[in-house]
Amino acid sequence: MQPTAKPPRSAIILAAGKGTRMQSDLPKVLHQVGGRPMIDWSIALAEAAGCGKLVVVCSPEQETLIAHVAERLGAEAVAIQAEQLGTGDAVKAAKTAIGSTAGSTIVLYADTPLIPVGPIDEAFGMIEGGAATAVLGFEAREPGAYGRLVVDAKGALLRIVEARDCSAEELAVTTCNSGVIAADGTRLFDLVDRITNDNAKGEYYLTDIVGIAAAAGGRSGVVFCEEDQFQGVNSRDQLAEANAAFQRRKRSEIMGAGVTLEAPETVFFSFDTRVGRDAIIEPHVVFAPGVTVGARATVKSFCYLEGAELGEGVSVGPFARVRPGTKIGDGARLGNFVEVKNVEVGPGAKLNHLTYVGDGKIGAGANIGAGTIFCNYNGFEKHRTDVGEGAFIGSNSALVAPVRIGDGAYVGSGSVVTEDVPDGALAVARGRQVVRPGWAVSFAEGKRKQEKGGDG
Ligand code: UD1
Ligand code: CA
Repeated sequence: MQPTAKPPRSAIILAAGKGTRMQSDLPKVLHQVGGRPMIDWSIALAEAAGCGKLVVVCSPEQETLIAHVAERLGAEAVAIQAEQLGTGDAVKAAKTAIGSTAGSTIVLYADTPLIPVGPIDEAFGMIEGGAATAVLGFEAREPGAYGRLVVDAKGALLRIVEARDCSAEELAVTTCNSGVIAADGTRLFDLVDRITNDNAKGEYYLTDIVGIAAAAGGRSGVVFCEEDQFQGVNSRDQLAEANAAFQRRKRSEIMGAGVTLEAPETVFFSFDTRVGRDAIIEPHVVFAPGVTVGARATVKSFCYLEGAELGEGVSVGPFARVRPGTKIGDGARLGNFVEVKNVEVGPGAKLNHLTYVGDGKIGAGANIGAGTIFCNYNGFEKHRTDVGEGAFIGSNSALVAPVRIGDGAYVGSGSVVTEDVPDGALAVARGRQVVRPGWAVSFAEGKRKQEKGGDG
């Protein structure tokens, strides 16, 4: 039997609103939640829901946003809404870019970053099952300015009414519109074309398509969700709330995967942080984007990590800074006040104290003494340092790149190494020690005699 091909899915993401309340030079949806711009949350959501085609509606002034979307999805994914006449008008602006799509289309508002994929999938399922529109709704603690979902006695959705246009009876409804609406791809624009701006705000409301479809005999469904999943961002306060909601969710997801967080409320993750089973994260650790931590690793207090891969059983910190391009092999140890950037640290290597290593490689089991510096930058270009397996770098050494320290080689403490050191060799590059027995005693005696002479 031939498997039936899934009907295609597409998404229109609305982002053209002014975002005035953010008081920002940056378009609202480029502000970040969990280390990722809000627009990218919407894009990732649409992709996770299986949308093959995505269009983002921007306003002509949002140059940085337009460039961002073009880079992520290609220039053809950008649709321009000339004037911000409302969400219905914004969808209309996407018509040419999205083309005539068979299958179903979902409309997402880019200022709502934390929507899970499950309900989106359900809404698509309703359209694929023959519904004219499907809306994600929730029971609001304070319905306030949200659109109200008006249902009949059987629970069928009849229309959405914006708060400003509600009758007293409708205002009392607590079932609210999240903003997410799915519709049949071919019928969507027919519905949108019939929206008028005959309402309190004089705008074209996308939400009107539910009532328009009902009048033509189409039925609409509601997918019920949790209010917290629709945290909209219109101000810096709400941005902070969305970030807090993200952190709560991510911490519990990470603990659910078998990771110990000693003080979860003090650990900050990014959208893409991954931590292996039985890892321990001590209090006050920040994971910027791009970090993976292996099973049974320990990240001690006050570490900042970004763009790094930590192997199994690794120990990092306290007070370590791990920067992009770093890869730390299984069982390696990074101690306090250690900074690592773009270095591949071999399994079991130790960098226990007060060190900067940047651009290079450290072999398995090597020991990097306290105060070692990889001098990787000459003011113009960066060079690499390669430390061999099992090598020993004495404390307070400067390795001036490009340079290679051989396997099993030794570097004496306090050396400034400018030339390669062969495997198994010792390099000492510091002033030779001179010892003069009794010198200090006779020096002091001489000085005391001078003082007496001066007095008399
Ligand atoms: C909208 C819904 C409301 C729902 C609420 C949920 C409408 C008419 N109302 O109200 O029922 O309860 O979201 O948060 O849809 N945008 C454009 N072009 C425009 C206007 C808006 O692209 O001309 C974009 C904005 O950038 C934003 C999204 O559409 O991402 C939503 O617009 P917004 O004005 O915030 O709608 P709400 O008043 O919050
Ligand atoms: Ca909004």
